[in-house]
Amino acid sequence: MKMLSSLKFILTILSIIRGVEYHISFKRSQNSSSFPKRASFPSDFLFGVGSSSLQIEGDSLEGGGGKGVWEDIVERHKERFVDADKVSTMIEHYKRYKEDVKHLKYLGVNSYRMSISWSRILPDGTLKGGINKEGIKFYNNLINELLANGIEPFVTIVHFDYPVAIQQKIGGFLNHTIVKYYKDYCKLLFKTYGDRVKHWTTTNEPQVVAIYKYMHGYDNDAAEPCQDTKICSQAYTVLHNFLICHATATHLYRQQFQETQRGDIGIVISYQGFVPYSSKPEDVAAAQRLMDFWLGWILEPLFYGDYPQIMRKLVGNRLPKFTKKEKHMIKGSADFIGINYYTSQFARYEPNRTNINGLDNFDALATTSEEFNIEGKPLGHKDQYSGRYVYPKGLYDVLIFIKEKYQNPNIYITENGTPSSNNPNPLIDDHRIAYITEHINATKAAIDNGVKVRGYFVWTAFDTFEFEAGYSGHWGLYHVDFNNSLKRIPKASAKWYRNFLKSNGGH
Ligand SMILES: *[C@@H]1O[C@H](CO)[C@@H](O)[C@H](O)[C@H]1NC(C)=O
Ligand SMILES: *[C@@H]1O[C@H](CO)[C@@H](O)[C@H](O)[C@H]1NC(C)=O
Ligand SMILES: *[C@@H]1O[C@H](CO)[C@@H](O)[C@H](O)[C@H]1NC(C)=O
Ligand SMILES: *[C@@H]1O[C@H](CO)[C@@H](O)[C@H](O)[C@H]1NC(C)=O
Ligand SMILES: *[C@@H]1O[C@H](CO)[C@@H](O)[C@H](O)[C@H]1NC(C)=O
Repeated sequence: MKMLSSLKFILTILSIIRGVEYHISFKRSQNSSSFPKRASFPSDFLFGVGSSSLQIEGDSLEGGGGKGVWEDIVERHKERFVDADKVSTMIEHYKRYKEDVKHLKYLGVNSYRMSISWSRILPDGTLKGGINKEGIKFYNNLINELLANGIEPFVTIVHFDYPVAIQQKIGGFLNHTIVKYYKDYCKLLFKTYGDRVKHWTTTNEPQVVAIYKYMHGYDNDAAEPCQDTKICSQAYTVLHNFLICHATATHLYRQQFQETQRGDIGIVISYQGFVPYSSKPEDVAAAQRLMDFWLGWILEPLFYGDYPQIMRKLVGNRLPKFTKKEKHMIKGSADFIGINYYTSQFARYEPNRTNINGLDNFDALATTSEEFNIEGKPLGHKDQYSGRYVYPKGLYDVLIFIKEKYQNPNIYITENGTPSSNNPNPLIDDHRIAYITEHINATKAAIDNGVKVRGYFVWTAFDTFEFEAGYSGHWGLYHVDFNNSLKRIPKASAKWYRNFLKSNGGH
């Protein structure tokens, strides 16, 4: 998920009224049973919930693990993070995984998206530094518990976090040497868990890491000082190394494991929809350019072997080049694409890079800072409880876009969900039910139009530490009560998801 607290949109009376009207009409439409039922999806479609090790497990040192880069930065900069004091325990998933699997079972999901903590398995990041047996055992136990309950593990190999030792030794993903360490780690995972794990993803949202941490310098102690000149390089280097790590892992899996283990392997990317701010050609072009800078950055190499031409032109020699061998290795290196979708934004042409702010890429000559389009309309409706715009059509549109532009690949919606930041009672989260319903509807519509979506995961299972926003967004289908021994309590949305997954009626 997003490393920053939710985007700060300006509240307007107008959008609040729209939101209320929207909720009323949503309730009406729910009654008209116009939404798809579970049975209208294939029976082997994965319906799940997601999590990441870093955001729920707690105490990476317990049982002999090593420290991860995120725990490290929170500890050193507590003032930047809401709930920084809760980071050392998180929600104690490491200790309470058995109970948590019971909660997943209650939901009725057939899959659980989880990640493995590199530093719990290899405390200093390297095989040479030794394997932590307790860490290996923890994930064996968790995977076995899931399978015993009919829940397939869907495993992310690196979800933002990696060992501090690797950061200190080589500078993390800035250094091409990471590929070697990453490959050793992947091989250990395939060997250890691949008999039971049938869905692997190499990494989560590398674009978010590159843009937030390396271009804008958030939560990065040694950020490249380019925020004033807006001429940055590191973001491109980091993403490049992520891609080479990804392709290396896929090759390894395909050559040594896939035939016997019969799983698949892909990558999870973040997608924010881009809609032109006006019908002027320069705004239409800006929206297309942002698609290339955000999605094409990863999908062009994966499907066609190199970065989008517009990126090569605008970024110039700050964009690393693939060798012939690398191009060959990267092209075709995903069995599926994972898409994390939350919302969409307007794209407006901005020729002056010094005026590009927010979380935008300085090189794309476009800004997404407009809340309303040229006609004063927002995208979708603003939800009062999340403070965010809800725009399911953005999900539908990107699924169609990927099908058409990138050879109709298998796709999983690996994250989709909404915070509950302004909700007076986190247990009653009807806005989340509405959000999920509409996005499942958009997913179904895309499938009906030929997109090969194979699964959908709600972000997230349990209230989860969301970086600078801490637990304030109450993202989970399960509430975690910090005043009562971290008790897990199903919210209205948990009960709704359970009923949805149980229902057999369909159309
Ligand atoms: C939906 O239908 C139920 C039963 O038919 C009814 O009790 C309820 O009031 C309806 N809700 C809305 C918002 O129309
Ligand atoms: C990358 O790591 C190697 C050690 O493996 C080190 O010698 C080199 O200086 C590092 N390069 C950068 C750019 O940090
Ligand atoms: C870009 O904007 C900055 C300030 O916003 C201004 O100082 C500069 O002259 C502008 N550059 C161009 C090429 O318009
Ligand atoms: C479901 O999605 C389709 C396609 O995007 C849309 O036309 C329809 O209005 C949606 N239905 C509801 C009830 O939101
Ligand atoms: C938990 O307790 C604190 C301090 O007593 C209180 O401020 C807070 O509102 C409580 N939180 C919940 C969710 O009940």
